[in-house]
Amino acid sequence: MAGKRIGIVTGGGDAPGLNAVIRAVVKTAIIGHGAQIIGIADGFDGLFVPGGTRPLTLEDVRGILPRGGTILGTANRGNPFAQKVTAPDGTITVVDRSDQFMRELDALALDALIIVGGDGTLRIALELERKGCRVVGVPKTIDNDVGGTEITFGFDTALNTATEALDKLHTTAESHHRAMVVELMGRDAGFLTLNAGVSGGADVILIPEIPFLFESVCRKVTERASRGSKFSILAVSEGAHPRGEDPVYAKAGDAVYVPRLGGIGAAVADVVGECCKTEARVTVLGHVQRGGGPTPFDRWLATRYGAAAARLAMGSAFGRMVALRNSAIIDLPLAEALAVPKRVDPDGEPVMTARGLGISFGD
Ligand code: F6P
Repeated sequence: MAGKRIGIVTGGGDAPGLNAVIRAVVKTAIIGHGAQIIGIADGFDGLFVPGGTRPLTLEDVRGILPRGGTILGTANRGNPFAQKVTAPDGTITVVDRSDQFMRELDALALDALIIVGGDGTLRIALELERKGCRVVGVPKTIDNDVGGTEITFGFDTALNTATEALDKLHTTAESHHRAMVVELMGRDAGFLTLNAGVSGGADVILIPEIPFLFESVCRKVTERASRGSKFSILAVSEGAHPRGEDPVYAKAGDAVYVPRLGGIGAAVADVVGECCKTEARVTVLGHVQRGGGPTPFDRWLATRYGAAAARLAMGSAFGRMVALRNSAIIDLPLAEALAVPKRVDPDGEPVMTARGLGISFGD
C-alpha cells in the first residue's frame, strides 16, 4: 500500500476536533501505510488558488491535538458547484466550477480525498463522488444534525461551553430576579439547546422541532414566580419559532449563502419581559460555541474518525462516511447518511425526560 497520496480538506463552519482528525489521518496514513498526505487550504477554495495545497508531515501535526479551529482553514459555503464570481463591472454571477475542481484534483494525483464537514460539505462530497472523485467523509458539526451517526465531533465541546454559560447565567439571574434568555446555535436541529438546556437546568427549552406558543412560555415563567422562583432560565435554539411562523433570520440568504438565523432570543426576551412583568435579558452565545480546544470526548472521537477515514482511504473504500453506532466506529454509504437529516424526536426519550422534570417546551 506504500506510496498512496491522500488529500484532506476541512469545509463549512469550524468545530472543535478538526485538528484532531487531521492529526489522526496524517499519523495513521504515514506511520501505518507510508502514504503521502496533501492538505487543501480553506475548504474547497484551496484547489482554485496557487499555493492552496501543501504536503502534511508528521511534523506539521505535532501539538495540534488540543487546538481548536483547523490548521487547514475552512470556508463556509465554498462550494465548487456554486461559486460567486464578480465581473470587472461589479456584476456577480454564480458559476459551476466543479469541472475545473476535478481537473485540479486530477493534477494532484490523489488516490483519495478525505472530506471533513457537516451536512452542507458532505452533500458537496456526495456530488463530487458522483463526478468520479474518490471521497471518504468525516461528520463534523456542533449542530449534531448529520444522519447515519449518533454523534458528530464538535458537539460535545459546544455542549460543554453552552452548559457552562447556562450555569453562569443562573447565578446572576437568581441574584437579580431576572428571566435570562440564552440563544444557542444549531441551525434547524435542537440537539445543542436540548442537551445544554437540561444539563444547565433551564426552565424553558425552545427548539426548532417543537414550535412554541408565547403564551405557554409566559405561563411557565409566571408560574415559577408565583411559586417563589423569581428568576427563570430560557434556552432558545436559533432555529426555534412560534407555531405557524417562520424562524427569525439575521440575514437573508442568496444563491450561495444560506440565510443566517438569529434574533429569536431577543424576541422571546421582549415578550417575556412584557407579559411576565419581569426584567428579561438575552445572551447570544454565538461563535464562542464553535471556538476553543476540544473536550477529551471530542479528541477521542475525532481521532477515531480520522484513523478510520485513513484506513478506508488506504483500503479504497470510497463514497463512505465514518460514523458512531453503539459506541463502535462504523462506516456507511455517504448517500445513506445524508438521506435524512437528523433532528430531535419531539416524542423521544430525551424530550420526555425533560418534560418529566417540569421543563416547558412552550407548546
Ligand atoms: O453549522 C454550524 C453553525 O455554527 C450553526 O450552528 C450556525 O447556524 C452556523 O454554523 C453559523 O454559521 P456562520 O459561522 O457562517 O455564521
